[in-house]
Amino acid sequence: MGIEHNREGVGRRKVMIESLAVESGQIILDLGCGGGYQVRDLALAVGSEGRVTGADPSSDQLDAAREYCSDLDNIEFVEESGTDLSFSDDTFDSVTSTNVLEYINDVDSTISEIRRVLRKGGRYCTTSVLWDHVRFHGPEPVLNNKIHKVFREHCIHQMLPLELPRKLQENGFSGISSMSLSFLNQTMHNNAFAKWFSILMAKFATSEGMPGDDVAEWQKQLEEADREGRFGFVSFPVLTTGVAV
Ligand SMILES: C[S@@+](CC[C@H](N)C(=O)[O-])C[C@H]1O[C@@H](n2cnc3c(N)ncnc32)[C@H](O)[C@@H]1O
Repeated sequence: MGIEHNREGVGRRKVMIESLAVESGQIILDLGCGGGYQVRDLALAVGSEGRVTGADPSSDQLDAAREYCSDLDNIEFVEESGTDLSFSDDTFDSVTSTNVLEYINDVDSTISEIRRVLRKGGRYCTTSVLWDHVRFHGPEPVLNNKIHKVFREHCIHQMLPLELPRKLQENGFSGISSMSLSFLNQTMHNNAFAKWFSILMAKFATSEGMPGDDVAEWQKQLEEADREGRFGFVSFPVLTTGVAV
């Protein structure tokens, strides 16, 4: 169990595969593949006649992804950035990216590159998060606000889903749709995204210099709120899909 193996991560990957209308034998790119979770699901979907490429600029992420997918032979991993892809034009039937674009400074160049490597009629499906609406509820407000404020530094674009339809249209996509994948966790059990996300947020805040005592106190207050039945966590991912014209 971890940040991607909880029920919300599994559900999101299922919705994305359905939105891509994946077929056996297709050639698909997962840009910013991280630990390879979506790559694995896509490789199982396209089968031995198909192929999935996972691209990510982080060698550590790619090492984890290679290990996670080591039993499948229709996958390749490449170390590269979405702003400058090495693939030829029209290489892929579909491209996907999960929570990646909001971490890239030049989103337009990345979408332009995605369009270039995608064949005409191919689909691009991406999720990104309305980070201003991601919120833990339960800890004392001043402390809670403090850690949320520090966490804003973890990504460049806080509200990217609002801009994506226009950016896709400007870069050669049509049939663009957005769908909310928002969810609420009301407990911190082991299969809830909130539990794993609270750990990630605490680690990030510590790395940004928030005092360890404050971070530990925030985590303690989350647990208290959970025990006392007043815990909540809200997240607002958005699925954006377009077809290459
Ligand atoms: C929040 S993680 C998501 C990982 C994976 N897609 C998932 O859902 O588990 C963001 C990923 O974007 C990658 N990334 C950052 N900058 C990138 C860029 N310029 N091009 C492609 N990927 C990038 C990071 O290395 C990281 O693996």
